[in-house]
Formats: sequence, C-alpha cells, structure tokens
Amino acid sequence: MYLTKEEQQILDGELGVGTQRAMELLVAIGDAYDAEKMIPVSRAHAASSGQEGDLYFVELLAEGGAKCRVPTSTNPVYDLTYFHGLFDIPKGEAEVARRVMEAYKRVGAILSWSCIPYLSENIPLYGETVAFSESSATPYVNSVIGARTNREAAQSALASGIIGKTPKYGLHIKENRKGTFLVDVKASLRDEFDYTLLGYFVGKVVGYGVPVLTGLPRRPSTEELINFCAMSNTSGAISMFYMPGYTVEASTVEEAFQGDLPKDKITVTDGALREVNEELQTTNGRIDFVMLGCPHYTLKQLGEVARLLDGKKVQNGVSFWVCTSATTKVLSDKTGHTDAIEKAGGHVVVDTCIDEPCWIAYKDKVGMTDSPKCAYYRRFKEVMVARLQDCVEAAVKGRWR
Ligand code: F3S
Repeated sequence: MYLTKEEQQILDGELGVGTQRAMELLVAIGDAYDAEKMIPVSRAHAASSGQEGDLYFVELLAEGGAKCRVPTSTNPVYDLTYFHGLFDIPKGEAEVARRVMEAYKRVGAILSWSCIPYLSENIPLYGETVAFSESSATPYVNSVIGARTNREAAQSALASGIIGKTPKYGLHIKENRKGTFLVDVKASLRDEFDYTLLGYFVGKVVGYGVPVLTGLPRRPSTEELINFCAMSNTSGAISMFYMPGYTVEASTVEEAFQGDLPKDKITVTDGALREVNEELQTTNGRIDFVMLGCPHYTLKQLGEVARLLDGKKVQNGVSFWVCTSATTKVLSDKTGHTDAIEKAGGHVVVDTCIDEPCWIAYKDKVGMTDSPKCAYYRRFKEVMVARLQDCVEAAVKGRWR
C-alpha cells in the first residue's frame, strides 16, 4: 500500500509508539486487502467492551501516548457504580472494565458507551468516510445515512480514530457497494420486533453480502431500521443493504445492483419469520429476568416501556432491565419515563450491554428479551425471545406461555 511521507513517519515511530501501533494495524489490514492507499476519515466508532482483548489494544495505544485525531465514540462497557450492591461483579472483571474506560479517556475518545452513537453522540452525514464498528452501526451509517465505512473491528476503528485514516478497500469503493441478493419481502412486518426477525432471517440466509429488500409494506421507523441492522449483522455479516425508496444511496432496485443481476433471490414470508422466532426459544415458563435495550433503547422505546408498565408491578423475584445511553437517559429522566419504569420495579441502566461480564450473576438464570442478538450472546442459561408487550407481561406475571 502506498504511504505518504507522514504516514511512513508514523509507521517508523517518529510520532510516538502509540500512533505507530495504530498505523501498523491499519497498514497490515490495507496490505491484506490490497488497498492502494489510505484515505482520511472524519470520525470513528470503536466497539469497545469491558473485556481483555479490548483492554490490551486501547492500553497499548494509551501508554504509547496516542490521541484521537477525529471524534471517536465508544461502545458499552458498564457503570460500576450502578451495579454496586445489586450484583457481585468479580473484582478482576470490574478492574478490566475500569481500566478500559480509563484508557479510552486517555486517548481522548468520546465516552459515549453507546451502541447507537449515530443517533446522538457521533453522527455522520451522507457521503462522509468513517470507520465504524458495532453490529447496528456499520450497516446503519452505510445504508440509512449513506456514509461509507467498512465492517470495522473495535481495534481497527480505534486505530482509524487515532490516525484519522483508513485503508481504501471494501465499502469505500463504489462498485463494492452494489447489491448482491434480492430479498422479496412478503411478510406483514407490523412492528419493531418483526424487523428484528427480518434482520435475523436475512443475515442467516445471505451470510455475507449486500441485500436489496423490496416489498416492504411501509416506511420503516428509525427503531425498526436499527433492529434490522443489528440482527442482520449478527446472524450474518451484513455491512450494507438497500431498501430502495427508504434508504438513501439508490432510489431504484436497478440502481442498487449497479446494472448487474442479483446472485440469488430470497422470499421472506410471515411463516419464515415465525420459524426463526421459534428457533430462538430455548425454554418457556418461569423467568428470572427481562433484558431490553439491545441495541440500546431510544427515548421513544423507553416511553413505550413506561406506558406498558403503567399501573403494574414487576413480579417479586424477577428483575427488569432496560439498557440505554447516558444521553437518552437524561431525557428519559426529564420526561418521566425513568420514574415510571422504576416505580414498577424496573431499572434503566446506562453504559452497558448484555454482552458484558457485569451480568455474570445471571449465568444460571432464565431470561426473556425482545432481541435475538441479546439471546445470541447467551450470557444466561435459557432464553425466550418475544415482542416487547410479551416481555412486559411476563415480567409482571413471572412467566411466559
Ligand atoms: Fe448493543 Fe450490546 Fe446489544 S452493544 S446491540 S446492547 S449486545
């Protein structure tokens, strides 16, 4: 890969060992993908976590004196103070989380600890070149916003945030953004949950590719698109998709395929989505907890939880969690949603996600969630996956089905 004089100096360590390590990673990726050169990025999102692999790399850069050159937001880790007294988090795990958070601060990242930063803390515009990791973030910024990013890892996104560049390959090149699979949607898609199932199904069937979806019954909401993105990029590796008429980069199916033919055609029916939903259940009956907010809930979703819990109480012995970002929680507090959820016995918790070691106390428990991605990580023994209304009802009764 061609390097400018400054890029070569960074690679040679002339600007410090932290930036050198970041550049080494980007050059290795560029060489692996036959990138011709590096291109500037205007922002990055690192899918950080409170786990050791992430700790290793961010501390390596922080100790080497690296600082982010462009705005770089962070994914959930966890708020140690909130859990204090509620759970026993093993000291070693808590220490990893503390050090990760400290190291991201030292490199000058935006401490958003959110997996949907593209809605409030770090918002790309159409046509921007960025480096975003995290399952919903990559397809959302490519497809819904029309910015350009590859499916970055936490480490490569952080390295790009430090250097302000990324190797030019993959989805930074227009012809690689063309559709590969035609997805004919015949399912009725009534709500956000149906979009989670649609995403899970499409990711599973397509695997790796750029699906072009037709036949959607109406314009999807922001939350429906977030869910589709997160699930299709969990059951599969969908970094980009088209919903012509609703996503920005191509207004017609022909434009989405850039004149080529699809590799294959898939049809999605209500029956196929029901089957996917059934496959996700590992048990039924009594539950120990409900986990919502994977991806992080928006203010609108918090409002819906508050409405559904109005006048009700979460069953004794069941815990009820809603994960969101700190910025959303500020508005939820002001709007009264947090109070309403807490009054019913629930928790609104920021900066964390189900895939964090803070939930270790649930490893032998039965959980219920509206998110196939949350179920996929299986940090608990058994899981039921259902729409939000069912999760709330089960929390109140202590069981489902
Ligand atoms: Fe977000 Fe964690 Fe779920 S990063 S999408 S809450 S697994």
